[in-house]
Amino acid sequence: MPEMPLWTPSAKRKQDSNLSRFKAAVEKKLKISLAGFEALHAWSIADSQAFWAELWEFCNIRAEYRGDRLLLDNDKLPEVRFFPDARLNYAQNLLIKTDDTPALIFRSEHKVRRAVSWKELQVTVAEMHHALAGLGIGAGDEVVCSDFTFAASANPIVYTGATPVFVDCDETWTLDPGLLDRALAERRGLGASVRAVIAVDLYGQCCDYNVLQEVCARHDAVLIQDSTESLGATYRGAPAGGQGALAAFSFNGNKIITTSGGGMLVSPNRDWVEHARKLSTQAREPVAHYEHLEVGFNYRMSNLLAALGRAQLESLPERVATRRRIRDRYAALLGDAAGIAFMPEAAYGTTNAWLTCVVIDPDAFGVDRESVRLALEAEDIEARPLWKPMHLQPIFASHHTFGGDVSARLFERGLCLPSGSSLTVEDQDRVVATVLGARR
Ligand SMILES: Cc1ncc(COP(=O)(O)O)c(C=O)c1O
Repeated sequence: MPEMPLWTPSAKRKQDSNLSRFKAAVEKKLKISLAGFEALHAWSIADSQAFWAELWEFCNIRAEYRGDRLLLDNDKLPEVRFFPDARLNYAQNLLIKTDDTPALIFRSEHKVRRAVSWKELQVTVAEMHHALAGLGIGAGDEVVCSDFTFAASANPIVYTGATPVFVDCDETWTLDPGLLDRALAERRGLGASVRAVIAVDLYGQCCDYNVLQEVCARHDAVLIQDSTESLGATYRGAPAGGQGALAAFSFNGNKIITTSGGGMLVSPNRDWVEHARKLSTQAREPVAHYEHLEVGFNYRMSNLLAALGRAQLESLPERVATRRRIRDRYAALLGDAAGIAFMPEAAYGTTNAWLTCVVIDPDAFGVDRESVRLALEAEDIEARPLWKPMHLQPIFASHHTFGGDVSARLFERGLCLPSGSSLTVEDQDRVVATVLGARR
């Protein structure tokens, strides 16, 4: 979303005094304490423009409407703008941003919905995740997310204004269904509005969806698959991505298929797909002119990049076979070394082996994971620790987490080995020799 434009500073104005008069006038008119404008208030807009005109006059602020914008001759009230809120039938919203306490007050014909901070508005508008946006998930809601994952699984929850709750993985390294059941029961029991679950198919391995579906259905939560890493994997014989109500795939640069950036949202629910498609193109209504009932995004993939992806789709089975071959060869060469364990492959499916991941037991292997990583780095070989769990991320430290020990231990001991499809046998031998040579 572009920065809100619009104010015309005047050095001559007594802005501070105008601001306090403005606040006082608003409080008097609204009969509430604005507490720095961050307040909820029920207010009809029928007379809003007249009210504001009156207010500006009272405050001695020169104001001029230009379309949906209001230009204020006062740099303490730099950004004020009326704009439509689709779900409230074109009712107007009012954005007020002051220097110290930015706030947005949503207004409608009938009531103000809520106030949110300026920062939240920008994030929400600019980057709200398709799936969550399509489901209407937002502030006041909670979304359960796999704890053991990349931050990109959890960030979209925050974009919508909802709150992530994290649940640990089990021995498959994917979402623990028993713990999920407990989390949903406990949060619901405390009155939380838990709307959805984001289950991550980690490093190409599907979650146990039959069980997750049952748990989510029992708790009335929408099951969303983060299948960004699992394109080409299977769950009980079916392709990954077909088990949840919605699934997201990634085609970024390090994935099995790449369009350099972007991805794909899939769902058996045609209405949701159509809604997501609409949101992805700035939410244009299907009429000849440019009509908007809701806030959309520019999330569409270009035709050119989509063509690139489609061409690669034809070779998906070979790409998966290559990754699995790389994983199997690592296992053959390293599997017998004491203290090295490979990511387990769950009996219910086949992983695409996107990355080959190992766990190093320092006592049995002789050195810890970090020593191995540094030994590889010294040979110019990039290897990375497994994902740092969300509950250990400073940004999410205050969020509710169920479990957390399994993912924390995996992070402490786990390493992703070089796994790209173009890795040669010689490259792989060099990796293996360096890993084994790291032992003292
Ligand atoms: C688990 C997980 N979720 C989400 C993403 C985000 O995908 P993208 O980079 O296409 O936005 C990634 C990307 O690496 C990922 O690994």
